Amino acid sequence: MADTYDVTIIGTGPAGYVCAIRAAQLGMKVAVIEKRATHGGTCLNVGCIPSKALLHASELFGEAKHSFARMGIGVTPSLDLVQMMKFKQEAIDGNTKGIDFLFKKNKITPFRGTAKILSAGKVQIDGKDIIETKNIVIATGSDVAGLKGVEVDEKRIVSSTGALMLEKVPENLVVIGAGVIGLELGSVWARLGAKVTVVEYLDRILPGMDLEVAKTFQRFLTKQGFTFKLSSKVTAAQKTKDKVKLSVEPAAGGASETIDADAVLLAIGRIPYTNGLGLDEAGVKRDAKGRVEVGPHFETNVPGIYAIGDVIRGPMLAHKGEDEGVALAELLAGQAGHVNYDVIPSVVYTTPEVAQVGKTEEELKAQGVDYKAGKFLFLANGRAKANQTTDGFVKILADAKTDRVLGAHILGPQAGELIHEVAVLMEFGGSAEDLARTCHAHPTLAEAVKEAALAVAGRAIHS
Ligand code: FAD
Ligand code: NAI
Repeated sequence: MADTYDVTIIGTGPAGYVCAIRAAQLGMKVAVIEKRATHGGTCLNVGCIPSKALLHASELFGEAKHSFARMGIGVTPSLDLVQMMKFKQEAIDGNTKGIDFLFKKNKITPFRGTAKILSAGKVQIDGKDIIETKNIVIATGSDVAGLKGVEVDEKRIVSSTGALMLEKVPENLVVIGAGVIGLELGSVWARLGAKVTVVEYLDRILPGMDLEVAKTFQRFLTKQGFTFKLSSKVTAAQKTKDKVKLSVEPAAGGASETIDADAVLLAIGRIPYTNGLGLDEAGVKRDAKGRVEVGPHFETNVPGIYAIGDVIRGPMLAHKGEDEGVALAELLAGQAGHVNYDVIPSVVYTTPEVAQVGKTEEELKAQGVDYKAGKFLFLANGRAKANQTTDGFVKILADAKTDRVLGAHILGPQAGELIHEVAVLMEFGGSAEDLARTCHAHPTLAEAVKEAALAVAGRAIHS
């Protein structure tokens, strides 16, 4: 192949496609290689976007069923699952086509096929064409983690991918893993009528999120009909003619029980994906968890080969990968690209939503940080009262001496949007006092964030 590229990016998920666009903006000649039929990676094809389309549609279905009547709106919703799946597909198509457009606009050359790194500067596609390139970026993402004894068939025992395309609402859905995927996709099917049981290995849901938030959220989900079996593990899944029989036992070992399910969702985490990439032949090092090992500038041990996104250390989140993509492109252009890993928000798109940025109370305690917490309930927020969505609270954590905000945790309506004002504040090194003295429009849910900041100094107005 005659062309030589400045940068060739393997994988067009959020990390790869954003890196490609930023590199092109900075004047580089960019190629991307993607083995999927459409760009956008896990996130756009089988992750963020389809899950949010189904969460949106199922939430409205649930509201029409349970909340409209008390507002004086008389409708009796019925479910057309085929149409709901079409709605989801339109959301995917709209987003993936958007990337085709952006690649054209930025004069990025897309190649279709599986890429293998032959050496620094050389990438082969499907064992045939070889691309010559100054820099290679690995952005190959992640894949579903398996569980011994539970074989995914994507029909009755599904990963998140199969759970986004079930053909009917299962009467009983068992979710293995009370993480983000389990609770989001469990919520979709619970709202559409499934009885959902979640089996979790640990003694809590949503590990990594603030414990007070997680415990309160578990109570809300239980009220919505979820059943939780914490400190439990699935040891086997046996398919009968129309059921899946799951053997479940205490995490610490003990007597086993059997749970019958119509469908099982395996959601116990994701693992970095590097199959067929030729890393060993190219001499690229991986860490103990199979992630591509990188230094502070996303550089691997082989000069000219870099990696970003789910395939490297850090949270497996689309926006984390996107920011790494931008930072790496800027570094390759000689600029000072940087990602602030202390301020990466994370959101669970359930009802209510869960959002956090910065440190949890547990992390601050473990690090021996002297901190103050300010908490404000949505029950005392005018807008939440008007909307009758008063479940949850905002909690702001600030350094006891300097008042600098170290973390924020929101369980409540639109938490995923509200968290960003605290993220911006933290990015600028702001204090709880700064947030508390910023005028917030009334009546808004954001006033609960301001009140939580006031509560850090013990002077919330409405509680
Ligand atoms: P990916 O998106 O996985 O993209 C990697 C791409 O590389 C793929 O398209 C793959 O086909 C391609 N590829 C791999 N190997 C090769 C090769 N050798 N040659 C060519 N191409 C190759 N994150 C959020 O932030 N918010 C959410 O709401 C959210 N929801 C999610 C819901 C679900 C159900 C799932 C599964 C994940 C969700 N995530 C969410 C996580 C998010 O999808 C990932 O963090 C994100 O997609 C990672 O981006 P990436 O670019 O690193 O990798
Ligand atoms: P996760 O890491 O969020 O949760 C997995 C859960 O399974 C944990 O609670 C863990 O303790 C539990 N677990 C592990 N082994 C188990 C076992 N053998 N039996 C029972 N429970 C077990 O992983 P999940 O939910 O699969 O999501 C994968 C990734 O995708 C996450 O890193 C997440 O960041 C990302 N994602 C992000 C979303 C968002 O930002 N809204 C939405 C969906 C996924």
